[in-house]
Amino acid sequence: MALSSPSFVLLAVVFMAAQVILSAGYNKCVARNFGYDSVVCECNSTYCDSIASVTLPPLGQFSSYLSSMAGSRLEASQGEVQPKSTGGGLRLTIVPYQKYQKIRGFGGAMTDAAAINILSLSAGAQEQLLRQYFSSEGIGYSVVRVPMASCDFSTRLYTYADTLGDYNLDNFTLAPEDIKMKIPLLQRAQALSPRPLSLLASAWSAPAWMKTNGALTGKGSLKGEPGGKEHKTWAQYYVRFLEEYAKHNLTFWAVTTGNEPSAGKMTNYSFQALGFTPEEQRDWVALDLGPALHASSYPHTHILILDDIRILLPHWAKVILSDVHAGRYIHGVAVHWYWDNIVPAEISLGTTHHLYPEYYLFGTEACTGWNALDRGVKLGSWDRAEQYAHDIIEDLNHYVVGWTDWNLALDLNGGPNWVKNFVDSAVIVDAKRDVFYKQPSFYSMAHFSAFLWEGSQRVGVSASGETHLEFSAFIRADGSVVLIILNRSSSEIQFEVWDPVVGYIPSTAPAHSLLTLAWKTQ
Ligand SMILES: *[C@@H]1O[C@H](CO)[C@@H](O)[C@H](O)[C@H]1NC(C)=O
Ligand SMILES: *[C@@H]1O[C@H](CO)[C@@H](O)[C@H](O)[C@H]1NC(C)=O
Ligand SMILES: *[C@@H]1O[C@H](CO)[C@@H](O)[C@H](O)[C@H]1NC(C)=O
Ligand SMILES: *[C@@H]1O[C@H](CO)[C@@H](O)[C@H](O)[C@H]1NC(C)=O
Repeated sequence: MALSSPSFVLLAVVFMAAQVILSAGYNKCVARNFGYDSVVCECNSTYCDSIASVTLPPLGQFSSYLSSMAGSRLEASQGEVQPKSTGGGLRLTIVPYQKYQKIRGFGGAMTDAAAINILSLSAGAQEQLLRQYFSSEGIGYSVVRVPMASCDFSTRLYTYADTLGDYNLDNFTLAPEDIKMKIPLLQRAQALSPRPLSLLASAWSAPAWMKTNGALTGKGSLKGEPGGKEHKTWAQYYVRFLEEYAKHNLTFWAVTTGNEPSAGKMTNYSFQALGFTPEEQRDWVALDLGPALHASSYPHTHILILDDIRILLPHWAKVILSDVHAGRYIHGVAVHWYWDNIVPAEISLGTTHHLYPEYYLFGTEACTGWNALDRGVKLGSWDRAEQYAHDIIEDLNHYVVGWTDWNLALDLNGGPNWVKNFVDSAVIVDAKRDVFYKQPSFYSMAHFSAFLWEGSQRVGVSASGETHLEFSAFIRADGSVVLIILNRSSSEIQFEVWDPVVGYIPSTAPAHSLLTLAWKTQ
């Protein structure tokens, strides 16, 4: 009978082989619903969902990865590039000759809180968690922001030089939080990563004795003037930090001029802060930090200014970057995402880029759950994943070269945080159960970080008509194209992508979905 015919058997074998290939190395999300609009994926010491494969099919086919409120998580599929338009509907056209910025990378922050949470898991679960972010089966994180000493996501207040009047920094010493927690985890992350990690350091406060208010918290600045002994010592503190981490084989790509300098000037933070006006920051870089780094063993460390919200742009950049004495030491402008929805990207990021195109823009902090009206952890919030994807696409479309999430992991309360400034995180750890939950925002990050490798260059993409879709397109160093598409509305839309080099890609953006399409061009 037909069933036993040789050709059927052959077909069945081929079909099964194809299925094996598609599911090889692919673990499905173990979904859990906590009553919000979507689900988390639960991972433990022996199991975690993973991305099927980011290896692209041959020329003439495309890969598609879908995450959605309905529950898809980086769901992979492949299709044929078509020689002809399917006609009608929305068309997104790739414009390869319109070239913009090149990507540096994506990542998160190794705060004291993140380290405490990761280490609260069993050895096996710790390994799974680190692999999720950093290994070649993970989502391609290459940037890690490291707070210099304590911040609000610490369990106590400390700096590395709390000995009164220690202007020579004779008693400078890393904290147990560095030696026992952050450094070992960073070394493990580096060992898992297929490429060198780009470490980025930010300080929250100088030692209290160097400050006008004599405290790590609240309104206060360095005593004296740029060029004076407190400013010089504070610059040397950066050099000592780099030296101490280097003893553990961890070298930094960049330092910022300090976390949220406006906080220590304008607002009265209940946690660690150090105020600078842009003029003070300019002169401190020109007279102290720039020369100190230049004369140190780490003269190639990048200096990023601002490290604060983009409403301060372009003014902050104008004050500092139009000064040649400061500007020659500086490489980029670091931005935090808070209040982005009330500050148009074009007048802040866009204007800054057009005024100072030789300096890059880099996202150094973002989290959800920080606002008093929407506080803390929401397990399974798709809305928060959309907030991430919307902001990343907007930033990328305005010359930003990388985007860094805040804490790599928090506990079920969104802490620990010594001032109870609890927020959300892409990974939430439940130490009691020895599991961690990958939030929808983890996959938001992944849709970019797993595909936009360092050196990927943003290119033009134009829509044939009005659309609510948000998108950004890139050509990677190997010539392949990556297109990320966000649909924040509640109905499905069909569209096609036209890459003049290869042809037409028919696609659909389901309601509330995030899609990464990728294909070879040669
Ligand atoms: C880990 O999760 C997997 C999948 O849910 C489950 O089969 C396994 O029993 C869990 N392992 C432990 C140690 O709980
Ligand atoms: C500071 O360092 C000096 C020399 O290493 C040491 O004698 C002194 O006890 C230290 N002081 C404090 C307060 O740690
Ligand atoms: C330092 O790190 C590099 C890679 O970043 C590695 O090749 C080297 O073996 C490490 N050295 C030590 C002493 O750990
Ligand atoms: C700043 O806040 C602290 C409490 O966090 C308060 O004690 C202090 O009075 C405030 N200072 C100003 C100048 O508002």
